[in-house]
Amino acid sequence: MANSSFPNITPIFFIILSIKFFLSTHVTAQNGAFARSLSPEEFRLKSKNLTHLHFYFHDVVSGRNPTAVRVAGTNTTNNNTLTDFGAVVVMDDALTVGPESSSKLIGRAQGIYASASQTEVGFLMVPNYVFFEGIYNGSTISILGRNTILSTVREMPIVGGSGIFRFASGYAQPRTYKFDTTTLDAVVEYNVYVYH
Ligand SMILES: *[C@@H]1O[C@H](CO)[C@@H](O)[C@H](O)[C@H]1NC(C)=O
Ligand SMILES: *[C@@H]1O[C@H](CO)[C@@H](O)[C@H](O)[C@H]1NC(C)=O
Ligand SMILES: *[C@@H]1O[C@H](CO)[C@@H](O)[C@H](O)[C@H]1NC(C)=O
Ligand SMILES: *[C@@H]1O[C@H](CO)[C@@H](O)[C@H](O)[C@H]1NC(C)=O
Repeated sequence: MANSSFPNITPIFFIILSIKFFLSTHVTAQNGAFARSLSPEEFRLKSKNLTHLHFYFHDVVSGRNPTAVRVAGTNTTNNNTLTDFGAVVVMDDALTVGPESSSKLIGRAQGIYASASQTEVGFLMVPNYVFFEGIYNGSTISILGRNTILSTVREMPIVGGSGIFRFASGYAQPRTYKFDTTTLDAVVEYNVYVYH
């Protein structure tokens, strides 16, 4: 009795099984063994935070303890005194709450900037901003942008971040607060809007 009722079901069962097998091998082949898709919920990424950061950046190139040092250039770099085209500078610039250098240190801008324009003062900026305060301590924001320092307001994209700033995107708007034409030291006000 039992056997006679199975023949109708068995082929369907095998069809379903082979479809499942086909689908699973297809998916496995697509993803290989190294990748799997993950839902944002599973990764505790229900919503993103939008944070506004406001601070002052101190680019000190003069004196006995500069925080930005020129490390490279070509023998024609100095010909173009306007743009210093080709100059490469490594920075470890202080980030403070207020515009004075004595103001509270809240982070540092560590990275490189290079003169990348032949016609105006335009820097390629590649800094990591690391912060020291509270929940932001040790977290970083990475920027990759064009900084035409003689413009009133510039805009540079945030390309990523770490720690609290994981999955960061957004932008930074620097505006020059103070520029000493003798020492070439600068204080720059930053407004940063970051999704993370
Ligand atoms: C995100 O926003 C929530 C709600 O305002 C806040 O409680 C939380 O601390 C924020 N998280 C981060 C990483 O800023
Ligand atoms: C720069 O250096 C290169 C290689 O030493 C040399 O051939 C060239 O003439 C130099 N240019 C100038 C403007 O000094
Ligand atoms: C650039 O400077 C070098 C060395 O000072 C000089 O020989 C050369 O003529 C200058 N080139 C231009 C285009 O001014
Ligand atoms: C930030 O973290 C470092 C290293 O973990 C710690 O030494 C320092 O005291 C922290 N600073 C603040 C302001 O929490």
